[in-house]
Parts: sequence; structure tokens; C-alpha cells
Amino acid sequence: MFKIIVTENYDELSEKAFEVMKEVITSKSNPVLGLATGSSPIGLYQNMIKDHQENGTSYQNVVTFNLDEYIGLKRDHSQTYWTFMHENLFNGLDIPEENVHVPVGDSADIQAECEKYEEAMKNFEVDIQLLGIGANGHIGFNEPGTSFDTLTHTVVLKEKTRQDNARFFDPLGEEVPTEAITMGIATIMKAKKILLVANGKNKADAVYAMIKGPVTEDCPASVLQNHPDVTVIVDRGAASKL
Ligand code: GLP
Repeated sequence: MFKIIVTENYDELSEKAFEVMKEVITSKSNPVLGLATGSSPIGLYQNMIKDHQENGTSYQNVVTFNLDEYIGLKRDHSQTYWTFMHENLFNGLDIPEENVHVPVGDSADIQAECEKYEEAMKNFEVDIQLLGIGANGHIGFNEPGTSFDTLTHTVVLKEKTRQDNARFFDPLGEEVPTEAITMGIATIMKAKKILLVANGKNKADAVYAMIKGPVTEDCPASVLQNHPDVTVIVDRGAASKL
């Protein structure tokens, strides 16, 4: 079931997303958050930091699991999702480092890392899973064609996804990694609540396919039509085909 909120602009989108997130964080003593990277959630993360600093909302008892991570980069590389999350969120909060989980993309045994991550998540119930959406409908790094039954697994990134993310690697003179670890679609669907944010016209086709298209592995996000509690917050651009 989708609840769809269309906003005038990105700031309003980030504000509405923050309201949904804060409700979950303050209604539980030990909230478990599934988090996402990408440019879409940055405004929401800024609101979370501001709220923590101004209103003292505590993250001492919050546990987080991130969706995905590139394979092959050292953890402290500037473009890992581990670094992204610390720079854009965790460093501004009081969350204990041991409560933070991001797949280890430079693990010596990637297969074992996938299993370990899925196992670790079994001890928790994710209260809210935040998602962005790729222009091709991917969620996490679950590219079109990924089975809806997948648990945490490795993926070969589609060329389109690598191109979309090249803007972060070009200035370093580096190539976008070719592979990643991602929560699977079945992992994502276990979350009690899903919050998906998307902005900009380049997401309009993916947002349309997710909400109005058939439920098909060709558009991984369309699986969310089968989830009981999904809030989609989109700006006018991303909503323009609905
Ligand atoms: C990456 C991430 C996704 C994210 C997507 C969209 O591929 N793995 O989790 O949703 O990009 O990113 P953006 O929000 O920057 O458009």
C-alpha cells in the first residue's frame, strides 16, 4: 500500500521525510533504521542532524543497517558508502559506532560478509527502511532482473548505474567500482515500514513504473506494491508522470 506525498521542492520533500523518520525514532525505545545513500536522502539527514543538535533527539539507542556498499574500496576511501554515511549523518549524531552497520566491501571473503550481514539483521526488526530509487528502478543495488527472493548478495552494477555514479569518481580520476554488496529485495521487504524519497524529472519514469506499472523484476521497486506500508515522498519533477 502506497501513501504518496507530492512536494513543491526538495526542501519540502526533506522536511516531510524527516517528519516520518522522527515519528519512528521517537515512538520506540530502541529504533532500528535501514538507511540509504545517494543524493536523495541528504536533505533528510541534514534535518536529522539539526533536530539532534537543536532539540536533543538522542540516537544512543538507535541501530542502523545500510542498504549497500561498493566492493573493492578500502573502508576509508572517500566514495565508500561507509564514508558517505559518516560524513552526511553519523558524525553529526550521538549514535554509538557499534550500532552502525554497513556491509564491508573490502572484506577478504565477500560471500561470508553477505551471510554475516544477513545474519546480523536477523537479530533485529527494521522499523523503517529508507530508500532512494535508481533511474532504472533499482533499490539498494538490486538492478532490474534481480529475483524478489534475494537476501544480502553481491551484484555486478549495470552500466547505467555506473554512469549515474561516475560524477563522484571522475574528480578522483577513478572508475566506479563494477560490483557491490546489497541487501536483497527479500531483505528490504522485511522492514515494517518503507520510506522512499525521489526528486527530479530523471526519476519520473522509475517512480511511474514503481507505482503504476506491473509488479515485475524488470523494475525492482515495483515489488513495493506488495508491501503493506510504503510512504513515497516525491517532488513535482519525480511525480510528473503519475
Ligand atoms: C545508488 C544507490 C541507491 C540509490 C541510487 C539513487 O545506486 N545504491 O541506493 O537509491 O543510487 O541515487 P540518487 O539518490 O543519488 O539519485
